[in-house]
Amino acid sequence: MDFISMRSILSLTVVLFCLGFQVALAQTHGCKCGKASGSIVEMRIVGGRRAVPHSFPWTVAILKQKLLHCGGALITNEHVLSAGHCFKWDEPKIMRVLLGLDHLDNMTGVEIRTISNVKIHEHFTSTALRDEHDIAIVTLNKPVFFGDNIIPICLPSPGADFANRMGTIVGWGRVGVDKSSSRTLLKASLRILSQEQSMKSELKQHFKPTMMCAFSKGINGCQGDSGGPLVVLEPTERYVQAGIVFWGIGCADPKYPGVYTKVSDYVDWIKEHFEGAWTCD
Ligand SMILES: *[C@@H]1O[C@H](CO)[C@@H](O)[C@H](O)[C@H]1NC(C)=O
Repeated sequence: MDFISMRSILSLTVVLFCLGFQVALAQTHGCKCGKASGSIVEMRIVGGRRAVPHSFPWTVAILKQKLLHCGGALITNEHVLSAGHCFKWDEPKIMRVLLGLDHLDNMTGVEIRTISNVKIHEHFTSTALRDEHDIAIVTLNKPVFFGDNIIPICLPSPGADFANRMGTIVGWGRVGVDKSSSRTLLKASLRILSQEQSMKSELKQHFKPTMMCAFSKGINGCQGDSGGPLVVLEPTERYVQAGIVFWGIGCADPKYPGVYTKVSDYVDWIKEHFEGAWTCD
């Protein structure tokens, strides 16, 4: 091999190495989970129902034949956390995952993925009255790149308790009984109840320690999508996912709060299923 080609191979290797290094940096250290980009955070409207576009950039919509089927939250560059019941009775092959979405009629900048695998919790059970261990990890057919509109949510510390904290749900979910889904992303604030308060509600015979409940005073508090995240803003100005929306008769009435899978009870299980994927600090 002559000197020139030796040298070009060497410099090509250096360039590739640097490129790889840059990508790795961007994916693992240059991004922060649970934080919308600065310009978007500044636009945040407190109390409004309409979420500022892309202010919850981990939120994904899962469509089934073009209709909203469930919500979910991006946790790595190729995994979405959602509810088990979203996949138990439906074929994931006919579903599409939309990332970076705000308005259902505007696909500019939206990433669309199919689902290559769904891991429903081994102990997921479902009866007419309740689902238990209602949690699933969806693997996308192709990873996404993180950017202003696509950022993963932070997972909570194992066992973290969010009782008495305020949480937020967002979604395109149905706006009321017999109503269709919203075209734009809506949000609502809820108060997370303690285990004792949940046990005092009318739902007590169905309530389990791996669940959380939360309620909102307004009548508009129920627009989260099934499978979507209930997130809590930490003092570090970053959101962590406290719950997964799965069940609620109403949720404006403290006697009938919305019920959520308690994510902090499943952190180890979740992490076992995304080894090797890229996430943010
Ligand atoms: C569609 O979405 C893009 C990206 O979020 C945004 O810049 C654009 O203004 C939107 N278009 C309309 C008509 O709302």
